[in-house]
Order: sequence, then structure tokens, then C-alpha cells
Amino acid sequence: MILKVRTKAGPGSTPAYGQIAEHLRREIRGGRLADGKRLPTVREMAKRLGVSRDTVAVAYEALAAEGLVESTVGRGTFVRAAAPSPKGTGATPPLSPLVERLLERERARPRFVDGGESVPLHAIVPDPSLFPLDAFRKAIQRALRKEGGALLAYGPPQGHRGLREAIAARLRALGVEAGPDEVVLCQGASEGISLALRLFASPGDAVAVEDPTYGNVLSAVAGLGLVPVGVPMGEDGPDLAALEQVLARPEVKVLYTIPTFHNPLGTSTSVAHRRALLEIAARLGKPVVEDAYEIDLRYEGRPVPPLAALDRSGLVLHLSSFSKALFPGVRVGWIVARGRLVDALLAVKRSTDLGGSTLLQAALAEFLGSGAFDRHLARLRRALLSRRKALLEALAKSLPAGTQWTTPDGGYQVWVELPEGIDTRELLAEATKEGVQFSPGDFFRVDGRPSRALRLSLATADEAAIRAGVAALGRAVRERMGAGRRASRSRAVHV
Ligand SMILES: Cc1ncc(COP(=O)(O)O)c(C=O)c1O
Repeated sequence: MILKVRTKAGPGSTPAYGQIAEHLRREIRGGRLADGKRLPTVREMAKRLGVSRDTVAVAYEALAAEGLVESTVGRGTFVRAAAPSPKGTGATPPLSPLVERLLERERARPRFVDGGESVPLHAIVPDPSLFPLDAFRKAIQRALRKEGGALLAYGPPQGHRGLREAIAARLRALGVEAGPDEVVLCQGASEGISLALRLFASPGDAVAVEDPTYGNVLSAVAGLGLVPVGVPMGEDGPDLAALEQVLARPEVKVLYTIPTFHNPLGTSTSVAHRRALLEIAARLGKPVVEDAYEIDLRYEGRPVPPLAALDRSGLVLHLSSFSKALFPGVRVGWIVARGRLVDALLAVKRSTDLGGSTLLQAALAEFLGSGAFDRHLARLRRALLSRRKALLEALAKSLPAGTQWTTPDGGYQVWVELPEGIDTRELLAEATKEGVQFSPGDFFRVDGRPSRALRLSLATADEAAIRAGVAALGRAVRERMGAGRRASRSRAVHV
């Protein structure tokens, strides 16, 4: 049997590890790979297919989790005797194909080491040492004193009214016309994204996403049975000609976009780009989900109005959350919508969830009302500006010529493109040993192809740690470049 891996796959196609796993699964279940047969080692297989070792390791792990192969340290990976039939006669009942896809994506997540020595430049999780704990404790106490047991009963599905009022006031300051009735609270922006997509797309439909995009949105899309269609990111945001073509496709029902402090790129689009994007969406009648998850984290330059402030056609659903500007653990986000869309959001929300924590929502209302949130934001923005300075200086000092990176005006992430020939998924293991962790670029790609880019985060490490982390990254990159390009890559392998 010959396996060919398509690494330049089209939008929505199976990533390389999925193709390898699927091929081997078919071979094993079809009896063409017999019980006890030893598979090529990860290294051999990766070399023969011209993919990264991680890609093959993920495929083998997927098969091991399904009980189709067994790996023994030092001996190798073997087809397991009495592999369960595709109908699932094993111990667990068969899972839905959607969930199998999600599990596969989970296994493809980059592997990070918790704690340990290496500097965490991978996650965009705010630094607990900057949390305004005292002020929030007082806000919880004040909320309980004022509203008592009502905060511990079921609350309104739309969320605590006081918090919706406070959020609406902040939105109006950004130019978004909204009152408390247009705000729906949800469990972080994550729930907001799923709710918003479900309003417009049914299983089998497609969603336009920027490529690269937020890794978890690709999981959300997969979990809803939707197909992501990538719109390439240019210097000034999503390529508008490509966007127009994608949105014109009848199966594409909605656009998900991150115009401000894009994840993973860190860049923001101009007002002109935003207007042009809205004009295309309005002409084609396609709704736009605007993820403004880091909009409060601008530390430089003039604010650009969000899409929702420029929208004249009522097609934009704007969502955000307290996760990046305050605490992710409160799990409070919001969506801004109008008229029937609010009813629709509430109907979808009620079908899966009876509402969030009213106590935490009320505490947040107190926290915002007391001015503590704005004081915290001012401090956080100063810290981020200083960390970004440290990061950019360290990149200039430690990374080899030919490396490029973005210079964000806010938010946590900086996107770094290494010189040709480096697969950052492979680099991650070496860099972790060298003393730094980052998010490899393939995780943000619609088709999961290997990438020479990586995302660095200012969220958790302070200036000294950032400098040490980037120096470690520089060492790991130079070692890899010194090792030279891999030997010639065959694109086919007999197994
Ligand atoms: C672009 C983007 N949107 C949404 C989220 C999810 O945030 P939340 O914690 O509010 O669910 C994240 C988290 O990293 C993100 O990067």
C-alpha cells in the first residue's frame, strides 16, 4: 500500500496526521496490515513522508487510543491483535464522527510542559501576579450584601442586568450603539463564538475564517459539524478579493473574524479595510461574527472602531469577554446583537445552558462600577507595553537574519516567521529543552500544514523571563539551522 500525504491540501481538508491515521486505520481494519506487524518508527515514517515527527507521532497516538496499535518503548509500534471492528465492539460505545474529529484535533494540540524550567511564551493566559484580587474580593462582598440570595438562584438567561448595563455603556464608548437589552452574557467568548455560529450555520455548512486563525475556533467549527474555509491573511488583514470569493459561495453562511489584535498574528485592520469588509459582507448578505476578545488591551496608537461600530446593515455580531483583560476564570463574555438575533441567541443558549453564575456577573458589575476595572486596565496596559518592548528588543538581538515578526499595538501575541526550512512543531520540543515554549504556527492553520511561524505571548512572563525565553529560542533556531535542511524527502512510503 502506498501512502501519499497531501501537505498542500485545500481548505477544509484533512490535516497530515489525520491522513496518515486514516490510511493506517483502513489498512488495519481491512486486514492488509496484520496483527503484530511492526509499523515504521516515527522517525522513519516522518522522513519517508516528508512530514514532521510530531505529525506521525500524533497519528500513531490516535491509532493507539483507538486500540488499533500498541507502542512499546524501545521496541516500536505494532498492530494490535484483535483490533476492534469499525462498528465498535470494544469497551466504549462508538462515538459520533464529529467527536472523533474533535478527539483527533485534541491529540494534535501542541504538547506543552507545565511548570518546569522553560519560559512560558506559548499561552495567552493573563498573569495571575497582575490580578486585582483585593478589589474583586470586595466587589463580591458588596454584590452579596446588596443583592443577597438572588445571586445564588437561577438568574435571567440573558445575564445580570447591572452587568449588561455596564457593558453596554462601555460599548457605546467604543461607538457601538447598544443598550442592556442588546447584550447577552455567555460563558466566555468561547460560548459566544459557538452560539453566534449556530445562528447561521447548520451541520454540513461552511464558515469563512481567517487563515491563520484562533486554534480553538477551528475546534468549535469542527464540533458543530461545520467546514472551515480559510481566507488568507495579508499584511492589512484578510485578503479582500479572496474574502469576496469565499463569501460568495452558497455553502459559506457566516464569517468569523478577529479585526483587533488578531490571534495569532497580533495585527489589527485599518478603518478602510473594515469598511471594505463590511461592504462585501453586506453586498453578499453574509453575517459577520466579530471577535473583540482583546479590544481593551490597546497600549499604543489610536483606537480603531470595531466592525460593530461601522456596521450599517445589522449583519455584525460583536463578542468579547473578561478573560484577557481581567480573569479567564470568571468565564464571563458577551455578545451584542439586535432584535430577533437576541431572541435567537437566547433560544440557542437555553437549549444547552440555563445561564452563567449570577454571583460572578453581579460582582463584575460592582467591579466595573467602582472604577477598579479601569484602574486594572491602565496597569495591565503599562505592563504589556513594557513586555512588548523587551520582546521586540530580544527578537532583534537573538533571532537570525531573515526572521520577521509583527509589532502589535495591543494584546498579548506577536507572530514570528523564521527563515525557510524550519518546522516550528519540530522546533518546539528542542526549544522546550533549551528553555522556552511557544505555540507552533501549524495549530492556527486551517489545514494544519507544517509552518515556519510561531506565536509568542506576553501574557505570563515578565521582562526578564521574556529576554531569557527569546535567547533560548534563538539558540534552538540556530541549532536547527546548523543541522541543515533535512535529507531529500520522499513523498511515498510502503507500509
Ligand atoms: C481569539 C480568541 N477568542 C476567544 C477566546 C476565548 O476566550 P474566553 O476565555 O473568553 O472563552 C480566545 C482565548 O484565547 C481567543 O484567543
